[in-house]
Amino acid sequence: MSLTDDWAERARRALTPNYKQQPVAPVRGEGVRVWDADGKAYLEFLGGVAVNVLGHCHPAAVKALTEQARTLWHVSNHYFVPKQIELAERLLATAPFAARAFFCNSGAEANEAMLKLARKYHADRGQPQRHEILATAGSFHGRTLFTVTVGGQEKYRHGFEPLVPGIRHVPYGDVAALEQALDGKTAAFVVEPIQGEAGVVMPPPGYLAAARDLTRRAGALLCLDEVQTGMGRTGRMWAHQHEGITPDLMSSAKALGAGFPIGALLASEEVGAHLTAGSHGSTFGGNPLGCAVALAVLAELEGGLLERSRQVAAHLRRGLEGLAAGGRVAQVRGLGLLLGVVVRGVKAGPVMQAARERGLLVNAIGDDVLRLAPPLTLTPAEADEAVEKLGAALAAAPAA
Ligand SMILES: Cc1ncc(COP(=O)(O)O)c(C=O)c1O
Repeated sequence: MSLTDDWAERARRALTPNYKQQPVAPVRGEGVRVWDADGKAYLEFLGGVAVNVLGHCHPAAVKALTEQARTLWHVSNHYFVPKQIELAERLLATAPFAARAFFCNSGAEANEAMLKLARKYHADRGQPQRHEILATAGSFHGRTLFTVTVGGQEKYRHGFEPLVPGIRHVPYGDVAALEQALDGKTAAFVVEPIQGEAGVVMPPPGYLAAARDLTRRAGALLCLDEVQTGMGRTGRMWAHQHEGITPDLMSSAKALGAGFPIGALLASEEVGAHLTAGSHGSTFGGNPLGCAVALAVLAELEGGLLERSRQVAAHLRRGLEGLAAGGRVAQVRGLGLLLGVVVRGVKAGPVMQAARERGLLVNAIGDDVLRLAPPLTLTPAEADEAVEKLGAALAAAPAA
């Protein structure tokens, strides 16, 4: 029995069975590579599900975390936490619409705070009837009861009823449907700039700008879920900046801590002021360890990494588009280093398996899409290596 098989067996006995793990047990990582318990090396192109913007064990993140670990771990929000305040200031500077930051530990928690605040904002202003949340079909916003209800995928809600009331869905990318759905009861429209978990689905150009315009005219808030798309993943600090619009609220997590759990809600002054004393909170939110790492991530992104990632993203994309000649790649979609490779004549699952056997970890979404979210530290040579492995996997997978 290999060590990986042994871990798989122990997982089957000890863990709740809610994850469908692949037969890989990574024990060490460096840059874009991980090594499993049996010593096999992989190019990790899922990036911890769009988390590891700096790759594994980046020296700047390790330094920030270890220095903070030697200094102060946790004190709670009963006191001022200087690292948290510093991070708030630095994050707000990246998103000019935002004047206030709230910290938590995950994407779901950042969205939970965003949704609660959207309702409270209107309630505080004497409009409690404005409590409805409009969201999009196919979306993913997390696994708390509020966020699975807002998420547009039935399979994640099944069995957890009764759900949170006051939530409606419209088709993603459909401006006319959004316009029709907005009314005097709408508190907010919640949307991902690119639907990541749905398979890196891009809305038509101008969709976010139209959503901004329509929500403003309807008196509703525009809430962007940038948990997957934010912190440089798409080649800009925030994906909405490609469209030059500004939301009222925005959530972040994943890449914010580059692997250390931290989430954030950024809010305009007008809306953020309504998260009043005692109305919301988190024991670990804004803990010095997470904030120290996030400050290091921002410093790297702003110190040239974001700029360099655009070049390697273009290089990777050209390589992936080159695979189309083999006939099994129908489309490469996404932005920056959040990419969806749409396959045809073959199923994504067997391609993922064939890639894994060749030392490349990617993520199959449904039967048609492979998601790639490698670190922004990727080099052109590493991108070429991944493209070659993926090409071989596409050729080796059985015809659908
Ligand atoms: C867009 C989006 N929102 C929210 C979440 C939930 O984040 P977390 O798993 O950290 O709670 C995810 C996770 O995949 C996501 O992609």
